[in-house]
Amino acid sequence: MTELNKIALQILSNGKGILAADESTATMTKRLDSVKVHSDENNRLLFRQTLFSSSSMSKCIGGVILYDETIRQKTSNGKTIPELINSSGSLAGIKVDTGTKILAGSKEEKITEGLDGLRERLNDYYELGARFTKWRGVFLISEDYPSHLSINANSHALARYAALVQEAGMVPIIEPEVLMDGNHTAKDCMNKTSKVIKKCYEELDLNKVDLTGTILKPNMILPGADCSEQISNEEIAELTLECLKKNVPSEVPGIAFLSGGQNEIEATANLNEINKKNNTGFIMTYSYGRALQQSALKFWSKDINNIIGTQEIFDHRAKMCTLAAQGKWSKNLENKK
Ligand code: 13P
Repeated sequence: MTELNKIALQILSNGKGILAADESTATMTKRLDSVKVHSDENNRLLFRQTLFSSSSMSKCIGGVILYDETIRQKTSNGKTIPELINSSGSLAGIKVDTGTKILAGSKEEKITEGLDGLRERLNDYYELGARFTKWRGVFLISEDYPSHLSINANSHALARYAALVQEAGMVPIIEPEVLMDGNHTAKDCMNKTSKVIKKCYEELDLNKVDLTGTILKPNMILPGADCSEQISNEEIAELTLECLKKNVPSEVPGIAFLSGGQNEIEATANLNEINKKNNTGFIMTYSYGRALQQSALKFWSKDINNIIGTQEIFDHRAKMCTLAAQGKWSKNLENKK
């Protein structure tokens, strides 16, 4: 077993998942604005440090994805944030893309940037304590999108990123996100997501990435947010498993889904169904941002010094997600706090 495979398994095994707390300062400011908390360095640290010192960290959270600001911050008792995360047996990760810009040659689609100078930045992050990384490629979906251009350009960038990350001794999370926005059906999502994932693995192969030391972070197969189609959690799970079984090489140790705008209960219920039916051989777990943090953030915003109360809310959500990652969740557990 290689060191990178060991790290990937440490993050994902035994129902553990990933807390995606890597919102850029602009995105975190939007989240804090929505609950009327002033977005400054201290408040961003306070909320995140509250989550990272919760008791569920040791049982549920195998890895935390950080943003550049956070990985350099220290807690009030002088620990670095990676040290705080490591103290519960979890690993620190870092978002290394620098965001998206309009893709030249396409009217609306985006290209993810951040390859220039990446090798040097990775060495810096390793020194700061990171052992895994994230890069998000984002794909619009409609009749014409994602275009060949967007699929090719973003998959190429994801693969070049992944190769550099492995060279630096870290596990790359490969996140090709087909967005939920639109009125497409689940079947459309399935077809387009399949194309994107297939192309990503062609590029990863070309770039000689060792798949046993990677984690895939895909969207689930869902109807668009504006589609009237009614679809059950069971059908979502079946389509998602079919898509991944067909397009992800078997060497990949695990898949950690993004929540992508699903609410907390939907994201948990769908992951649970996926695990009840999982016949793929891949670990299937979560790498949630909003679906792990939303309720905790709302509660915290009412009294930012209520650390224990905020942690209870977060611990419950993390516990529910970890049960779902083992196919052991049911809705009635939501009320037993
Ligand atoms: P969500 O779970 O809120 O979609 O965030 C996950 C993530 O890391 C998106 O890049």
